Amino acid sequence: MFRTHTCGELCISHVSQKITLSGWVHIIRKFGAITFVDLRDRYGITQLIFEESFSQAALVDTLGREFVIQISGCVRERSNKNPAIATGEIEILVSQLTILNKAVTPPFTIQDDTDGGDDLRMKYRYLDLRRNQIKKNIELRYAVNRAARNYLHAQQFIDIETPFLIKSTPEGARDFVVPSRMNEGQFYALPQSPQTFKQLLMVSGYDKYFQIVKCFRDEDLRADRQPEFTQIDCEMSFVEQEDILLTFENMLKHILKEVKHIDYLEKVERMSWANAMWSYGNDKPDTRFGAILCNLKYPAHTFPGRPDLSNLISEAAFKVFDEAETVISLSFPGCSEYSRKQTDELTEWVKRPQIGMQGMVFIKMNTDGSIKSSVDKFYSAAQLKAIAEATNAQIGDLILILAGSEERTRKAAAELRLYMADRLGWRKSNEFKLLWITDFPLFEYDAEGNRWVARHHPFTAPKPEHVNTMINHSPKIEDAARYLEHPFASILANAYDMVLNGNEIGGGSIRIFQRTLQEKMFEALGIDKEEQVQKFGFLLGAFEYGAPPHGGIAFGLDRLCAILGGSESIRDFIAFPKNNSGRDVMLDAPSAIENTQLNELNIQLKK
Ligand code: AMO
Repeated sequence: MFRTHTCGELCISHVSQKITLSGWVHIIRKFGAITFVDLRDRYGITQLIFEESFSQAALVDTLGREFVIQISGCVRERSNKNPAIATGEIEILVSQLTILNKAVTPPFTIQDDTDGGDDLRMKYRYLDLRRNQIKKNIELRYAVNRAARNYLHAQQFIDIETPFLIKSTPEGARDFVVPSRMNEGQFYALPQSPQTFKQLLMVSGYDKYFQIVKCFRDEDLRADRQPEFTQIDCEMSFVEQEDILLTFENMLKHILKEVKHIDYLEKVERMSWANAMWSYGNDKPDTRFGAILCNLKYPAHTFPGRPDLSNLISEAAFKVFDEAETVISLSFPGCSEYSRKQTDELTEWVKRPQIGMQGMVFIKMNTDGSIKSSVDKFYSAAQLKAIAEATNAQIGDLILILAGSEERTRKAAAELRLYMADRLGWRKSNEFKLLWITDFPLFEYDAEGNRWVARHHPFTAPKPEHVNTMINHSPKIEDAARYLEHPFASILANAYDMVLNGNEIGGGSIRIFQRTLQEKMFEALGIDKEEQVQKFGFLLGAFEYGAPPHGGIAFGLDRLCAILGGSESIRDFIAFPKNNSGRDVMLDAPSAIENTQLNELNIQLKK
C-alpha cells in the first residue's frame, strides 16, 4: 500500500498512529543532524521529521526538491504549530523512507510566489499545475462544471454529445479545418459551437439539451479568449425568452451557492442593449458601481428620443466640443483633490493608442464649494455647474469629459469608467453582480461589404413585432452613409447575453424555426438560395419536419471560472492552455507534419 492517508488530512486526533504517506518533496530544511521535509500531494502538505537516530540518514541526504517518496512513521504533536495549514498541529516522525522516483531540479519553484516567468511555466505546465494557486483554479473549474451539470440534470436536461468533425457553422470567427484523407481535397471544420446540432436535437424532440463541450475558433487571442475553449451549451423547446432567462439565472445562482457559498437572492437585473450603450458605453457593463455616463452630445439617430443636453456645452466657442460628434462626461466621487500630475496621468491614459482620444477635459468640484476646470477659459462657473448637475456630480467629485467620434468616444468612456473603478478599488473580486442584456439589434452593418451581418448568429429570431419589418423590406442599402435609416437597422433580436462583473459570460437567443423565415434571414445576410442549400440545406430541411419553437444559450465555462476565481485571464483556469499566439509551447504545436502525411492528404505546401 502506497499510503494510508493523504498529506492534507492528518490532525491532532491522529497523534500516536502509525501511518504511511506518499508525495513530493516540497521543501527540505536541515538543522544539524535533524532534517525537516514538507511532503506535498494534491490534498496538502505534511511536515516530516528525520531525527538523528533515523537509520537511513544517508538516503535523506540524497533527497532533492520534487523527489517522489514514500514514508512510514508515527504522528506526533508539533511543539511549534503552524495555524496556516490544515496539518499544522502535527508532524510525522519518520521511521522508513523509500525513494519512489528522483527528480531533476525544477526550472522554477513550486511555490505560490514562484520565480518562474509566464513562458517557462507554460513550457513546463505539468509542473505549474503542481502549484497551489493553479490547483485551486482547476478544482474550482471542476466545482463549477459539477454544479452546472447537477443543476441541469435536476431540471431534466440531457447531455448529448455532438460531433467535432463537422461542416463549418458560421459564428463570426474563422474555422479550424481538418483535411479528410478519404475525401480528397475536402475538409471538415471543428465546431465553433454545437449551434446547429442542438437545434436539430430540438427537432428530434430532446426538448432540454446540454453539453459541456469544447469549441474551436481561429480568432485573435486576448486574456479572455482561447482558440479552444469550453461552453456550457444548452437548448430548450417550447420556451420564450422569459423561460430561458429564469432557468439560467437560477443555474448561475446555483453555481454561486455551490462554488462560492453565496446566496444570490435578488432577481437578476435586466437592461436593454440601448440602455447599456447609453449609460455605460458598452454592452457588458460592470454594474457593481455607478459612474454612469452623461451624454452631453451625441448624433441624434444613434439614440432616438433621448434628452438633448447639447445646449449645456454649445455657444462657448470651445472648438473641441463644438466639432465633436459625441461628448460624454463621467463623475468620480472623492477625486476632486487629484493633483495636476494625476489628471495629466489620466489624460495620457486616454491618449494611448488603445483608447485613442485626443485629450480629456476635467472639472473639479472642490470641497470648498468652488469649481475648477481645464476649460475655465471657455465656460463660466454657472455653465460648469450645469454640466456637473447633468453629470450628477457632488461636491468632492472629479468630472472627466471625453469628446470625439461617437463610436470611439463611447468606447473610451466605457474603458475610462473601468480604469477609474480599478484605481479606486471598486471592482472587488469577491463581489458578484449578474446582469442580463436584452434587445440587441438583429443586424450589424458591415461597411466594407456594404451589407448586413448577423450580430449574434443567423439562427437568432427577430423580436416577434419586428418580423414583418424583415419580411417586407429589401436588405439592399442604397446610401451607405445613411445605413442607420434603413429599416433593418432598427430590427431587434430575441437575444440575450449574461454579464458577470462586466464580462460577457454567456449569450443566446430564441431561434428561427420556420424554413421561410430562416430563408428570409439568409437572404438578408446576402446568402443566395444556392449557398443556403449548400451550407444549411440540412437545417432548412429539418425545419420542414415539425420543428418546435426553441431557444437556448451557451456560457463560456473558462470565463465564468476565471471571474469566480477573481481573475480576468482564463488561461490559468485551463489545464493545458495555448499562449497568446495560439501555441502550445509545451507540445510545440502547431508544427510541421511529415511529407508522407501531406501526400496522403494530397496537400502541397507553397514553397
Ligand atoms: P457565443 O459566441 O456568444 O454564442 O459564445 C457563448 C459564450 O462563450 C464564451 N466564448 C469564449 N470563451 C473563451 N474563448 C473564446 N474564444 C470564446 N468565444 C466565446 C463567451 C460567450 O458568451 N452558439 C451560440 C450560443 C447560443 O446561441 O446558444 C454561441 O456560441 O463567454
